[in-house]
Amino acid sequence: MESKNKEKSAERLAVSKIRCGTVIDHINAGKALLVLRILGIKPGSSERVLIAMNVPSKKMGKKDIVKVEGKYIGEEELNRIALISPNATINLIEDYRVSEKRRVELPSVVEGILTCPNRNCITNSREPIKSRFHIVKKGEEVRAVCHYCGRRICELDRYVV
Ligand code: CTP
Ligand code: ZN
Repeated sequence: MESKNKEKSAERLAVSKIRCGTVIDHINAGKALLVLRILGIKPGSSERVLIAMNVPSKKMGKKDIVKVEGKYIGEEELNRIALISPNATINLIEDYRVSEKRRVELPSVVEGILTCPNRNCITNSREPIKSRFHIVKKGEEVRAVCHYCGRRICELDRYVV
C-alpha cells in the first residue's frame, strides 16, 4: 500500500507542470536519457530538468517526457531528437500555458551528434574534425551516412555521442 502511494507521488512530481520552458513529450519509452545527451545536458549541467520515463500513454502505451524549465531550446537542437524519437512533440510553455506545439522534424544533416563506427574514418583520427552525417529515411527506418567515409548506420541510438 505504502509503495503504491510512493509510486503515485513520484509520478505526480515527475509530470508536474512547469511555468515556462520546453517540454519534449511522446519520446519513445526509455529514450529520455539519450534525449538529454542530444541536448547536451550532462552531469554538472545547471539546467532545471524534469524527466519521466516509462509513464503510461494512451497513444504509445508507454512514453518518456523531458521538461527543461526556464529555457526555450532552439528548433535545430530539438529536431535532432527525431533521430531517436521521430514522433516526439515539442511544447513551448509560457506562463503555464502551451504557447506552441509541434512535432520534431528529421534534419537532413547532423554534426557532432553521431559517431562513425569506421575506425579508419578521419573523424576517429587525431584530427579535430566534427562528425557529419547525412540522414536518410527508408520507409519507417532512419539511417545515417557518414559524410567523410560513406559508412551507413542504422539503429542510430547506438551511435549517439
Ligand atoms: N505541460 C507542462 N507545463 C505546463 C503545460 C503543459 O509541463 N504548464 C506539459 C504537459 O504535461 C504535457 C505537454 O506539456 O506533457 C503538453 O501539454 P498539453 O498540450 O496540455 O497536453 P496534451 O493535450 O495531453 O498534449 P498532446 O495533445 O500533445 O498529447
Ligand atoms: Zn565515417
